[in-house]
Amino acid sequence: MQRVLLDCDPGIDDTLALAYLAALHHVGEIELVGVTTSAGNVSVGETARNAAWALETLGLSQVPVAPGQPSPLAVPLVTTPETHGPHGVGYLSPPDSYEFAADWRAIWRRAQAVGAHLIITGPLTNAATWAAGRSFDDFASLTVMGGAVNYRGNTTPTAEWNFHVDPHAAARFFEKLGHSGHLATLCSLEVTEQFLIDSPRLDKLIDVLGDAPIATVLPELLRFYFEFHEAQGEGYQAQIHDLLTTMIALDRITFDAVDTTIAVEADSPLLRGTSVADLRSHWDAPHNARLVTAADIDAAHTELLRAARFLAE
Ligand code: RIB
Ligand code: CA
Repeated sequence: MQRVLLDCDPGIDDTLALAYLAALHHVGEIELVGVTTSAGNVSVGETARNAAWALETLGLSQVPVAPGQPSPLAVPLVTTPETHGPHGVGYLSPPDSYEFAADWRAIWRRAQAVGAHLIITGPLTNAATWAAGRSFDDFASLTVMGGAVNYRGNTTPTAEWNFHVDPHAAARFFEKLGHSGHLATLCSLEVTEQFLIDSPRLDKLIDVLGDAPIATVLPELLRFYFEFHEAQGEGYQAQIHDLLTTMIALDRITFDAVDTTIAVEADSPLLRGTSVADLRSHWDAPHNARLVTAADIDAAHTELLRAARFLAE
């Protein structure tokens, strides 16, 4: 069985990733050993609350949740309520009644000790903080959603949101990996933007979920995201970056990837958060990433419905 640690910033698509992991946990395909959160879509206190609310709704209140670092390594925190809603979960407003585990590092230490797969779907602040003093040895795998690698950004012309929020963390994370012998599977915008959910697919998902409590909150979770994407000219639908990343991390869909060296710009005012892959080995630098170049999107849609049936039971 795969053990999983999710570091996330719920966030609408992070919430769908949590629902997917909960489904696999309930049927014993995985064990979700912990959830830690970063400051990104909304503040770290709100992302932790949202994660705890999602897990409670999904019947996993026992999974430990802890807020991670409260702000980026070197720049002020910028959140995006205009994308994910005033509280980070669309039009929903979860209660603030949750208690959290005291220390996110303790959750990471326990996850490392049991050989968990580490999946990161928010800014890399916690991962870079961890890397400053500890290794990624013993984690079964590392998978990151982030970057617009050799591709247009969604936050600036060249930067993707997670890397833009904390560019120093992204830069240091990949620098550290390059000297560690570990590769992070990197799911960047060029691939994750392809995984789209629209109203018909949402209706089908809700139908398959049946009486699962999460089914009742999905309409107001996704409606905000649909409206945001429509306002961006992407149509009335939503890119579910973090859910695709989670499926790739657990090898539940087929994908193509290339080992390469990723570098992230941290200090340039215009190019902050820009990520580049040295696909032609100009830098002669150690590889630090397995860049996903394609994924079976149809299989991802099928996999989502397969998992949803586990929550309906
Ligand atoms: O750019 C997409 C990423 O930014 C996703 O992780 C989404 O949740 C937002 O955090
Ligand atoms: Ca996210």
